[in-house]
Amino acid sequence: MQIRQLRENQASALQDKAGATRNDQQSQSLGLAIVTGAGSGIGAAIALQLAQDGYALGIIDLREAAAKEVAAVIQGRGGLASASAADVSNSIELGQAIDACVRSMGPLEVMVNNAGVLDGYFDVHDMDETIWRRVIDVNLTSVFIGSKKALEHMLPQSRGAIINMASVAGLNGTGGGAAYIAAKHGVVGITRQMAVRYGAMGIRVNSVCPGAIPTALREHSQAILGPDVPDMSQRGVAVNDDQVRALVPMGKRGDVSDIAQAVSFLASPAASYIQGHALVVDGGWRAK
Ligand SMILES: NC(=O)c1ccc[n+]([C@@H]2O[C@H](COP(=O)([O-])OP(=O)(O)OC[C@H]3O[C@@H](n4cnc5c(N)ncnc54)[C@H](O)[C@@H]3O)[C@@H](O)[C@H]2O)c1
Repeated sequence: MQIRQLRENQASALQDKAGATRNDQQSQSLGLAIVTGAGSGIGAAIALQLAQDGYALGIIDLREAAAKEVAAVIQGRGGLASASAADVSNSIELGQAIDACVRSMGPLEVMVNNAGVLDGYFDVHDMDETIWRRVIDVNLTSVFIGSKKALEHMLPQSRGAIINMASVAGLNGTGGGAAYIAAKHGVVGITRQMAVRYGAMGIRVNSVCPGAIPTALREHSQAILGPDVPDMSQRGVAVNDDQVRALVPMGKRGDVSDIAQAVSFLASPAASYIQGHALVVDGGWRAK
């Protein structure tokens, strides 16, 4: 599909009248995009951007109320969206949520495995094994689970794009503690393996590596991991403007929309020959 036609479809999807039936909306849609961790921050921005692009949106998050809020914004703009509560590290919960989205809004064209948590910035010698396992489960095993379920729908149609949220911490030895860095390196790795394996089957698989983006990631990670992690508000990198200026050649944090635009591009026909790529969006941090 040409970009101009894509844009026309996007515009018509947004112009849906409030009273349009689901089928009316679906026929104007580019199909279904599912975003995990879409109740907040980067995931919410991705969901809003993909809805603007013309996709129906499956919003999945641990925090159901947050997922519903994002779905309501999309619906308020005339788009098609549903909200589901699921823990991405639980294959039954995530699988059921994905299947339900596909049943009501499929075919599944785009799967964005975005949900993640920080790890308290523990080094190996002081990290508790339970935290290690939880962080690997939420950040990495979730990508395996989400991709496996997405492929169940995409392989039979020989079409689809999977986009996995890594991090600069998926390429560098900084930007998180040991578990977060290991998990994000794993996300880049599983992305490459899937890109090689499924490229000839019509499935494109890429990852995005954000730098410092202001979101509630520290607060949410703190709440999700509970009292076993220390106060993260001042731990790690890029906790204040001076640190950001020292770290990032462009001297500033990015915005969630920078990441949403990158995902929108990777999902689009404009990226039809991009496969297994780790797209760094970091103001130059990684270039140093
Ligand atoms: N903010 C940054 O600077 C930055 C940089 C690099 C990578 N990232 C990655 O971007 C992704 C999004 O993070 P964000 O910054 O938007 O944070 P965020 O906390 O604003 O959003 C993450 C969302 O994921 C959800 N979530 C967490 N664990 C979950 C689980 N087990 N099941 C389902 N949902 C779960 C949270 O409820 C939250 O809504 C993460 O993978 C993060 O590692 C963020």
